[in-house]
Amino acid sequence: MSSCESIQGTLSGLRVVIDAGPTYEDIDPVRFLGNRSSGKMGFAVAEAAVEAGAKVTLIAGPVALATPPGVARRIDVRSARQMREAVMQAVDRADIFIATAAVADWRVAEYSARKIKKSTSCAPVLELVENPDILAEVAARNPRPFVVGFAAETDHVAEHAHEKLVRKNLDMLAANHVDERIGIGADDNALELIWRDGGESLPRAPKSALARKLVARIAARYHARTGKPA
Ligand code: CTP
Repeated sequence: MSSCESIQGTLSGLRVVIDAGPTYEDIDPVRFLGNRSSGKMGFAVAEAAVEAGAKVTLIAGPVALATPPGVARRIDVRSARQMREAVMQAVDRADIFIATAAVADWRVAEYSARKIKKSTSCAPVLELVENPDILAEVAARNPRPFVVGFAAETDHVAEHAHEKLVRKNLDMLAANHVDERIGIGADDNALELIWRDGGESLPRAPKSALARKLVARIAARYHARTGKPA
């Protein structure tokens, strides 16, 4: 597919749920733990899915982005547990789930309702507990939608991506190098797409162009799996 090839109609009538952006895990009323993520890639994927004819639900962590025109529903959340709740409700009747969110892996064991004051004697020690893995939970459902995960890797991208695809039982994984000065916060990205019996490199391009290519590949793999024509 060239960058100007049409994706219109390739996801016609399908329900697509996309999570995007970071999650913030509050420590006290003024502090939080979070991942670096602008949400730009996820919002670009939502825009491309709308162009492909899908009914799109976009679940967004704290981002400063306008809802792409045509998105049927946007749900704003803050924490990983709120994102999980929203995804699990939305995904019930979804055909495709695309997890672009940079979910915080941990949250504090105990939120402090009062601002933690600096003490001259010692720095506080935060006890962390693991957050739910939203992607793995959706992939473990039965029946389940076609499930696409994202992964940010610094090394051995292909190996780690393949391991993650199998471990989380995904239909497709889109991996990117985080050390390439592209990706987080930037307007460009590059992706390694993999699925069980194949893969494809999508070279560096603006996130909007890359999102359209990704949606074209998702549509092709989805229709190949369900046996329905695109
Ligand atoms: N993800 C999720 N819920 C989490 C953590 C990650 O849904 N609690 C999803 C992300 O949205 C993304 C993929 O899982 O689609 C990324 O997984 P990643 O965090 O990179 O994988 P991990 O299993 O945490 O592996 P590691 O951090 O060891 O690379």
